Amino acid sequence: MSRIAYVNGQYVPHSDAAVHVEDRGFQFADGVYEVCEVRNGFIVDLTRHLDRLDRSLRELRMASPMGRAALTFVLREVLRRNRVRNGIFYLQVTRGVARRDHYFPAETTPPTLTITAKSTDPSVAARKYANGIKVITVPENRWDRVDIKTVGLLPNVLAKQQAKDAGAQDAIFIDAAGNVMEGASSNVWIVDADGVLVTRPAEHGILRGITRTTAMDVADKLGLRYVEREFSVEEMMSAREVFFTSATGICVPIIEVDGKPIANGHPGGVSQDIRDAFFEVAEKTAI
Ligand code: PDD
Repeated sequence: MSRIAYVNGQYVPHSDAAVHVEDRGFQFADGVYEVCEVRNGFIVDLTRHLDRLDRSLRELRMASPMGRAALTFVLREVLRRNRVRNGIFYLQVTRGVARRDHYFPAETTPPTLTITAKSTDPSVAARKYANGIKVITVPENRWDRVDIKTVGLLPNVLAKQQAKDAGAQDAIFIDAAGNVMEGASSNVWIVDADGVLVTRPAEHGILRGITRTTAMDVADKLGLRYVEREFSVEEMMSAREVFFTSATGICVPIIEVDGKPIANGHPGGVSQDIRDAFFEVAEKTAI
């Protein structure tokens, strides 16, 4: 079955899906995006993802391509046409097509909306959860508005590639004071020496992950204590558990940082408990 993408009002074969050469997303990274997990035929946490999309658009004074009901219809249609039961959708909005000029284009310029979807093999994620992943730390070098989910991801791309080159799977940004910011495409959590879940406050310097927010709902449901506070690399290295949350890997255990094992070097039980309860707690929207 061939994949289908949505591009500005049309469902087109994935291989032909394209935007104009002067799209501002292409030329200036002048665009925002969302990634949502789809599991067992349900979109996970759609409302929170679309709320964050609205916020990203507002922060960049970018027009919304369509209302929420219409957008939800199109998202479900893309998933249906691609027969996705388990996988993700990727949605991107840019400031549209205009002759290259740094100033915003005329207000009448329509935003570009593209949506793709793909199936993923749950057994691949299961292997990751069972084995855990290795990460490296890299100095924070991003702008200070990473709370906006823009497509300007060059530092993240470079950090991930650096991790791959070093034989690891992912990277964690560390600020100048030695504190943990977030992963290259995820939020970081630890279980501290007192057994408390800790993640960095999302007011400044990181993306407020939707999975992060729902993981807090899960912690409440399971009676697990959590706190939002900064923590250092040293504290992370001596934590009982370290894990990532993101829409593409709900709760991924980290077993090694910069070549040194975390705890006994095996995935921990708390991240598994959160993962196991996650889908039940999250909002589910039928395709
Ligand atoms: N990334 N921090 C960064 C820098 C991210 O790119 C992401 C998500 C997150 C986690 O956010 P959420 O829980 O809402 O997915 C945190 C997506 C998955 C991506 O770029 O593919």
